[in-house]
Parts: sequence; structure tokens; C-alpha cells
Amino acid sequence: MKVKAAQASTIVEGKNQCVKLQDRKILLIRHNGNIHALENKCPHVGLSLEKGKVENGVITCPWHGSSFDIATGANQDWVKNLLGVSVPKWTAKMISLGKSPQPVRTYPVEVVGDDVMVDIS
Ligand code: FES
Repeated sequence: MKVKAAQASTIVEGKNQCVKLQDRKILLIRHNGNIHALENKCPHVGLSLEKGKVENGVITCPWHGSSFDIATGANQDWVKNLLGVSVPKWTAKMISLGKSPQPVRTYPVEVVGDDVMVDIS
């Protein structure tokens, strides 16, 4: 089911935009001109990815440094710092709470005119 999420012209590079579509919080990211939609919930402990930094198509969670491909959701790195501050490997392991690396959910996006349509099926 495709739902209008935003006006494409309001989504700018370097400023992630969180929208609520039905009961889901979706993060809209413009990168290299394309708009991507991810679940705004880090699979580590469910915190928001909204303030995550996007570089080379990868978003890094601002809380513990896990990172994800914004196009596929694939995990790139899993729990490696605390609020951006490096921690020893054993501390990162504790912070991970025993959770294994997981991807973040992504949603198909289509831009029609200035409408950003997200398929939340
Ligand atoms: S909540 Fe994202 S890495 Fe912990």
C-alpha cells in the first residue's frame, strides 16, 4: 500500500526527516539526489535513527554506532561506541546486550511529481 509521506522538495541532503505513516515511524533520507525510506527504529534497542549521520550511502546510529546501508538496510557495523565516543571491544559487547547484527527495514519509495510515495505494505 503506497502512502504519501512528504513533499520531495522538503527533503534535503544532510537533514533526515521523520514522518509517521499509520502506526510506523519512517525516516526519509535524501542522498545523491535519491530519497530513501527506513524504519526509524534501530534494530539494536529500537532508538531513533533520525539524528544519524549519512555518509556514502550508510547511516550511523547516533546512540551506539551501528550502521546500515540506506538503500538495502543491510547492517555494516554493529554497536561500536557510546554516543559517538569509542569504547573498548568488551564494553561494546556489553552494550550490544547479546544481540546479533540485524538489518534495518527499508521501504520502496516512488516520487510522483513532488509527492514522496512510500510503500508500507
Ligand atoms: S540503538 Fe542504534 S546502535 Fe544502539
